[in-house]
Amino acid sequence: MEPVILVHGGAGNDFDERVPQFRAGVERAAQAGWAVLRAGGKALDAAEAAVRVLEDDPTYDAGHGSFLNANNEVEMDAMVMEGARLGYGAVAGIQRVANPVSVARMVMERTSHSLVVGAGAEQLARSFGVPVCPMEELVAGSSTHLLRPEDRVFRADKAGDTVGAIALDADGLLAVAVSTGGTAGKLPGRVGDSPLIGCGAYADNSLGAAAATGHGEALMKILFSKTACDLLGSGLAAQQAAEQVLELLSRRTGPREAGVILLSPSGEVGSAFSTHHMAHACISVHGMWVRD
Ligand code: GLY
Repeated sequence: MEPVILVHGGAGNDFDERVPQFRAGVERAAQAGWAVLRAGGKALDAAEAAVRVLEDDPTYDAGHGSFLNANNEVEMDAMVMEGARLGYGAVAGIQRVANPVSVARMVMERTSHSLVVGAGAEQLARSFGVPVCPMEELVAGSSTHLLRPEDRVFRADKAGDTVGAIALDADGLLAVAVSTGGTAGKLPGRVGDSPLIGCGAYADNSLGAAAATGHGEALMKILFSKTACDLLGSGLAAQQAAEQVLELLSRRTGPREAGVILLSPSGEVGSAFSTHHMAHACISVHGMWVRD
């Protein structure tokens, strides 16, 4: 199988002046994932590596740069899933950890659970030796402008810049990873689509894999990522499946800021978004492209 890495940096309308930054970051993330795949590495390692790059980049609403909640605090959600045995791990509302995606992977691989939240997630991270950091270190980039009082109000229509990556490795295994600081000014304790299986992401080697971005409360309602994978599995081309799942979201929940990247089991790529921008990048043996 020819490996593929596909990465996105979130769907949004309000960051026109930062488009070059968003493009550069997804390119760096795709290269990090590609380095893993080119060396014969596993899809899950590639997807995690790509998402870690975006979590470390203050441009994005994930890890460093996470949006702030209504208490001016960072609470992050992340998940990983692999398509061979439907392995799934996630964290929600985690604080003081720079790379929630890696804690999500620890939940999947090193516990008997699937989703761990809040203080329990941070405690788990500490118990596995993950370094914790002061919350202020995660407040940078896209989150600083949200210190304005008007941005602290929960706005159900405001999407996050959730990041995600899908990888297909040489053994034909699919994996997906996503991470987010959630919506700006969200209620403390609010959990979005990103850590919920089938909502923020899904991977099944027999169907394909999807990673979502956008308004979590709407995405959850149609199990957005699983629905996208089911459309792929029904025989649609990846691009058609991406467009149809967005159309379904709009039809069933109203016009929403949302986006999706999709990878079929054979490495066919699809992407669609309802916003002005969704920086995304892909690398395969055929080369690299970056779009927004
Ligand atoms: N899609 C990210 C969120 O709603 O939290």
